[in-house]
Amino acid sequence: MSHETRITRRAFSIGLGGALLAPYTARAQSYPARTVTVIVPFAAGGPTDAIARVYAEFLSRDLGQTFVIENIAGAGGTIGSTKAAKANPDGYTIQIGQAGTHVSSVGLYKSLGYNPVTDYEHLGLLGDLPQILIVRKDLPVKDFREFVDYVKKNGDKMNAGTAGPGSSSHMGGAMLNVRLGSKVTLVPYRGTGPAMNDLISGKIDFMVEVSLTAMPQIQGGNIRPLAVFRSARIATLPEVPSTNEFGVAGLDFPVWLGYLAPKGTPVDIVGRLNASIRKATADPTLRARLSPLGLEMPNDATNNPVGFKAFIQSEIDRWVPLIKGAGLQLD
Ligand code: MLT
Repeated sequence: MSHETRITRRAFSIGLGGALLAPYTARAQSYPARTVTVIVPFAAGGPTDAIARVYAEFLSRDLGQTFVIENIAGAGGTIGSTKAAKANPDGYTIQIGQAGTHVSSVGLYKSLGYNPVTDYEHLGLLGDLPQILIVRKDLPVKDFREFVDYVKKNGDKMNAGTAGPGSSSHMGGAMLNVRLGSKVTLVPYRGTGPAMNDLISGKIDFMVEVSLTAMPQIQGGNIRPLAVFRSARIATLPEVPSTNEFGVAGLDFPVWLGYLAPKGTPVDIVGRLNASIRKATADPTLRARLSPLGLEMPNDATNNPVGFKAFIQSEIDRWVPLIKGAGLQLD
């Protein structure tokens, strides 16, 4: 019997007996009784941190207790994610995981301190962001076609910033190297927040960063966007071409973000958090803040613990063979 079936049957049998139901209901109603720590496995200033803070405001209001962010950065988000997986499963330590920490890391690392599918309770998705190739203002290329030529000639002298091995920005930079046959050095930072500072000041040449944190810098004229890593253009940056328009496909790595709790977190707490997360994704104020920055909201019908877990598994099934096939595994 699958884990999902067990949960469903258990929830069903609980529903049959009022006496059995009582402790679950009481705990769900009293949760959270104190501050909840949300581990963000990257430095402040990057997209994971930025989204975590917007959602934490909503959850704090909705559930009546503070959701406080703890940045535990390093090793492409795998240090914070390992800590979250091993935390006490009482609902008071949860994390934001994302496509880097919970999909590409599985392919990139030979051994990872956690299993993204079996070591967590999957609380709910927050949304999904497109990646954009952004370059320093004075990189001598006008568009993506010129960028490709430039990288093919000068790639071994170029630097791209990433949030560390295993992060989605690392995945984007590494896949770009594979597709262009280039050898750009991927410089690890503790998050793309600090990497962005070095891109703006021209210390690095480019980054593959998600729209959320790229857009304000693009709009401020601090960096330039050359291509969107999607099969088609995106509504929030309609003037920026997709890499597919230049015949460079296979870079469409969706950077989803979601809340996860350590395995064994009580099912009623998982349900309460999922309900609040779903409320957040439907909230017009939250949407008005994040949608213009490219956040695509999850499909509410599948945004439940079973659907989210199945989604992670399907993303792993899709991307890990590609990562391994491209020879991107790290020691
Ligand atoms: C990533 O590259 O995975 C994220 O952008 C990291 C971050 O949030 O800093």
